[in-house]
Amino acid sequence: MELQLWREMLTPYELAVDELVLKFRHIIREYRNVGRYSPIEQVDGRVKSISSILDKMQRKKINVNDVEKELEDIAGIRVICHYIKDIYRMSDLLLRQDDIHLLKIKDYIKNPKENGYRSLHLVVEVPVYLANEKVMVPVEIQIRTIAMDFWATLEHHLRYKNDKEISDDIRNRLSDCAKSITDIDYEMEDIHNEVFGHHKI
Ligand code: GTP
Ligand code: MG
Repeated sequence: MELQLWREMLTPYELAVDELVLKFRHIIREYRNVGRYSPIEQVDGRVKSISSILDKMQRKKINVNDVEKELEDIAGIRVICHYIKDIYRMSDLLLRQDDIHLLKIKDYIKNPKENGYRSLHLVVEVPVYLANEKVMVPVEIQIRTIAMDFWATLEHHLRYKNDKEISDDIRNRLSDCAKSITDIDYEMEDIHNEVFGHHKI
């Protein structure tokens, strides 16, 4: 496919990412405006690069005509929260908005991946208004705590920016780190509850 065509195809995804990042920024601002701390630490969005899309198509043997149907993470948002309870609160807030349609939810917090990966993944559909039409665009939203992000960022770097296979020993040590980080996540949340009580943030 020609570069110009790729760019055209990716435009709605760029608009969808901007739209969703803005939605989360609005939530943050609303908390701050009433003098409360925001349970969201950071929001980032990105559209997958053409080269990563091509890599993934090759890896998953996806035909170019099916790429929009098969790849759910062409548009991606990452929301970093303070505590585990904030993740579910933010996910509920978002899903209550009536222009957001939930397509898929994967709860890797209740059911962590074998390697220890934890996050809440939502695939939602948002409307995007182009000059002449409205299109529905799928966006993958990863919501995690600062602690989950710490592990996932380093694990990703160790796995992808490296030519060697990860040994069983390293795999086990990473999984132990994930367990320790999970304990810390729950302990910090307990501390927060004790200091601030369970009242609404
Ligand atoms: P992908 O083919 O990677 O998209 O997997 P999937 O379609 O089964 O979706 P899944 O929800 O498992 O993962 C989607 C995204 O979550 C990935 O692209 C990563 O950004 C993140 N992710 C999933 N598993 C891991 C993991 O084990 N480690 C890290 N660091 N990130 C992960
Ligand atoms: Mg995926």
